[in-house]
Amino acid sequence: RALITPALPLPALFSSLGVSILAGIVVTYVIPPLGPNFVRAGLKGRDLLKPKNEEFVPESIGLVCAAVYIMTIILFIPFLFSEAFTAKVASHHLEGLAGGEFPIQKLAVYLAAVLSLLIATLLGFLDDIFDIRWRHKLPIPLIGSIPILMVYFAEQGNTDVVMPIPLRRFFGQIIHLGPLYYLYMALLSTFTTNSINILAGINGCEVSQAFIIALSVTLNDVLYLPWSFHIPVPFLGADFVIGGVYGAGLAHGSKELVERHLLSLYLLLPLIGVCAGFMFHNWYPARAFPGDTLCYLTGMAFAVVGIVGHFSKTLLLFFMPQIFNFILSCPQLFGLVPCPRHRVPNVDNLTLLLHPSEANKDQPFPENLSRLSVLVLKILSYLRLTKLTVNPTTGSITSCTNLTILNVLLLVFGPTREESLTRRLIAVQICGSILAFGIRYGLAGLVYDG
Ligand code: UD1
Ligand code: MG
Repeated sequence: RALITPALPLPALFSSLGVSILAGIVVTYVIPPLGPNFVRAGLKGRDLLKPKNEEFVPESIGLVCAAVYIMTIILFIPFLFSEAFTAKVASHHLEGLAGGEFPIQKLAVYLAAVLSLLIATLLGFLDDIFDIRWRHKLPIPLIGSIPILMVYFAEQGNTDVVMPIPLRRFFGQIIHLGPLYYLYMALLSTFTTNSINILAGINGCEVSQAFIIALSVTLNDVLYLPWSFHIPVPFLGADFVIGGVYGAGLAHGSKELVERHLLSLYLLLPLIGVCAGFMFHNWYPARAFPGDTLCYLTGMAFAVVGIVGHFSKTLLLFFMPQIFNFILSCPQLFGLVPCPRHRVPNVDNLTLLLHPSEANKDQPFPENLSRLSVLVLKILSYLRLTKLTVNPTTGSITSCTNLTILNVLLLVFGPTREESLTRRLIAVQICGSILAFGIRYGLAGLVYDG
């Protein structure tokens, strides 16, 4: 027996599913004919890990994805408010009777989300055209997150952090972060956009990260919706029940909770559709590159749903591989260790196997590395996260493998082909998501009450 409470707006959910499938199909079909136009406009890149990489692959195809995605979520607006339409019509007929009030606040949230996504797309595309330097582009998405933060403020969103039980002795039960919480949310968008972008360079890698994170967050949303499925167990006389863990159970305030997770779903389903369509062309051997546009779009979409859904901390749990990659990258991003323009692994042209790439590709290591740099490199090498090259006579470090999770996967599990490295990364991302669900629904119960 399936039980779906009336709070679940099935027409809107089904239309969201419908437009998302449509968006995926559109992306799949328009990319091949549009590709040559991108190449002609100079939006093209060499596939670095192919032995004969003379041919150009259309780059910034994320722009097509972004266009289809944003059009889809705009097209969806009337469906989202279909209830208000019918209520209005009804109130028109039965003059005098109060019809449904138009949920203007919901529209404001949705439009702010669209605005943030548009800004992210614009910034990503500018980055593709002008190749903005790394240190300069880090804070760019901050601007894009302002509309959505404003909405959070208007909704009087929570800025408190509930402390886990073991830490309460030191910090008290609740910490009021106030404006600092807004800073955290603004930085969240910087993180989600850039962290997908720096974990890039092998075919299918950016889009598959976005795809799995989107699927994971969607699953988490579904867990909050009021539905349940009862399977009778013979002999036991009881039902085995699966269903939304929160929405169904919480009477007080659950309507708001359900609304927020629905909104997140409406924004993520089309993203999944678009990513699936694009993945088809980006899979090894890639016939289209995402460009920074797709990384910015998907990253901003995650930040937006995390903020409007009020689950920005849970969201970060699904970014564990990206957090690892970012922390590992810090010595290169912030200048402790030389950082070449491309940190992607190297390909052996004969065997087609990928090997970890070296950090001294564009510029040699400085003669005297600072003591801090040496210490950091030695620790990372001890942890097997990098492999150092040492001058046998002087004992000084002359190079190290680039500090990325892709190189670590090659160091730990050995050289492999490009498509199987993508698969390894996908496996890491899926394991990360499983761990995230474990922490969110298992561990959280141990360190939080209620
Ligand atoms: C980030 C990484 C960089 C990595 C690059 C690859 C950091 C600090 N920056 O830079 O190390 O090399 O992404 O995307 O970690 N490409 C491929 N195969 C692919 C995807 C991209 O060869 O599957 C190449 C193409 O030549 C393409 C270029 O990467 O033109 C795109 O690089 P871009 O997105 O501009 O690099 P960044 O995001 O600045
Ligand atoms: Mg990029």
